[in-house]
This record gives sequence, structure tokens and C-alpha cells, in this order.
Amino acid sequence: MIEDLQKIETEAQAALSGAATIDDLRTLETELLGKQAPLTQAKRQIASLDPSQRRDAGRSLNEARQRVEQSLGSRRSELARQERAVQLEGERLDLTEVANLDVVGHAHVVTQTWEALEDTFVGMGFRIAEGPEVETDWHNFDALNIPPGHPARDGFDTIYVNHGDPGSTLLRTHTSPVQIRTMLDQEPPIYIVAPGRVFRRDTADATHLPVFHQIEGLVVDRDISLADLAGTIEAFTEAYFGPGFSSRLRPNYFPFTEPSAEFDIQRPDGSWLELGGCGMVHPNVLRAGGIDPEQWSGFAFGFGIDRLALLKFGVDDLREFFNNDIRMLSQF
Ligand code: DAH
Repeated sequence: MIEDLQKIETEAQAALSGAATIDDLRTLETELLGKQAPLTQAKRQIASLDPSQRRDAGRSLNEARQRVEQSLGSRRSELARQERAVQLEGERLDLTEVANLDVVGHAHVVTQTWEALEDTFVGMGFRIAEGPEVETDWHNFDALNIPPGHPARDGFDTIYVNHGDPGSTLLRTHTSPVQIRTMLDQEPPIYIVAPGRVFRRDTADATHLPVFHQIEGLVVDRDISLADLAGTIEAFTEAYFGPGFSSRLRPNYFPFTEPSAEFDIQRPDGSWLELGGCGMVHPNVLRAGGIDPEQWSGFAFGFGIDRLALLKFGVDDLREFFNNDIRMLSQF
């Protein structure tokens, strides 16, 4: 009987060391320790032994069983460790790749354009101002001389935010509300530009995106005239685009400026690009900003940063900038 047990155990131990996976072990566990297992069957034989032999045989059987269980446990942890190591090796990320200078990224083409515009205007003496992307209806419209019911409101496909009274909170449709916030925040003289993200309920196509970027300019000082506006646009055009570029103003209408104009840029080849809007700050807008229009006057301008990047880099579809295709973006 004892010899039988030794043979059973030796075979069991050999089977366990031969198991290659945790799944193998699961099958072996049933085979070696389950109801039909020789070690289990041996228990029954003990019952039929002579009582004088039963104790020793019983102890041997229990010890053999315990050793097999122990081996099963340690083989299981060993295999688990191995399987985990293989998995980790497979999922390993080679972070040293970053040291390869060929794959270092750079700022997005719109960010580059935004920063180049900031640099140009700062070089001309402007400061950078900011305002929130979630704006009140008052800052975005009323204070800019666009009262409720004004047809200009329909021109902006506004995205409203479910906050406060219905229609009172929105995603700013332009950077012009930063004019109001700046005037309420600081005394003239004011010379600021405000780049930022704006939102409209537009379907994306080659020239429209529901989220895009604008830069706003505002000057408020004594005796500011339309000549100052035209001169500033011209100086900006040369500073940003380079020699050979010039600008012109064409009459237009905006509620927040009077008179208002559209400004165009002329390329060295003589062709014209429509860039943005501008004008003399409307007295109602100065008043909304807490500034006395009898004492101060000013001009403002605004244009799209993404559209400028499009023109500058000769891309014909705005969506190309935001598909996040690295092959496209790494060109700029
Ligand atoms: N806010 C206008 C828009 O989004 C652009 C604009 C026009 C800004 C004239 C101005 C301005 O400051 O004077 O279409």
C-alpha cells in the first residue's frame, strides 16, 4: 500500500512539473485530487486494511496528499508569474523613443498662428486680454449694441447653455465681449488684443467649423480717429505678412462700430484677401463699458485665426486642421 502511494505521488509530482499553463493545472487538479483521483480512491482501500496497518497507511496518504496540494499551489504561482511577465513584455512601451529627435512634435498650426499674431501685436504695443468662453447674453450681445430682437442676433447661430434664465448664458459667438470686459476692468488708455475660442451652431464644411478662433483688437484713448484704425491695420499687415503686402478698408455694417468696415489684405501679386471687420467703437458700446464717449474714442477689429492660417499656408479646407492626422499637421 505504502509503495503504491509513493508511485502515485511520484507520478503526480511529475505531472505537475510538466504543466505548462494555468489551464493545464486546472485539469490536473481534478485528475490528481478529484473524486476519481488515485489518491482519493486510495482512501477506500485503507478502510479495507487490517486495523493494525490502517493508522500508518492513513498518515502516509494524508502526507502524500498534502505534498501534492502544496506542489500544485507553488506551480500555480510560478506559472502565474511567468504568464504575467510575458504579458508585461508584450505591453511594454519603449519610452526611450522620445529621445529620437525625428519624432518630437510641435505646436498645432492654429496655435502657431495665434502665437505669431500675439507676437506681432505685442511688438506694436498691444497687451493680451482674455475673457470666458461661457459668456452672458449681455456681454456677448446687449453691451455690444445688439439688443434682444436685433436682426444681428440671427446672424450668429448661438449655442445657449442651460444655466440661469433661459437664453441668459451662452458660448461666446465672437471675441467682441472681451472689449466690454476689458473696458469694465481697466481705465483708458486701452490697447489690447484678445485671441480666443468661439462657438457657433454651424455644420462643419470647408470654410466653417462650430468651434473656431478669433482675435479681437480694441483701442480706447483720446482723439482716436478712423485714420488711426487704418494706420494700425496697415502696420499690422506689413509686420505680420511682410513687405509687399498692404491693406484697405471697405464700408460695412456692424452694430458695435460706427462707422464700420471690412478690411482686406493685398498680396504682392495684387490679389485681395478678405480678412475681418473693424470700425470706430459705437458710443453705446463705450457707455456699456463704463467709458464716457465725450471724453474718449476708440476703434476695434476682429478676424478669424483659423481662416488666416488657411490663407497663409494655402490649405483649402478648414476641417483638415482638426482631423488630427499627423501626416497633415506635421507639414506646418
Ligand atoms: N465680432 C465680429 C464677428 O464675429 C467681428 C468684428 C467686426 C469684430 C467688427 C470687431 C469689429 O471688433 O469692429 O463677426
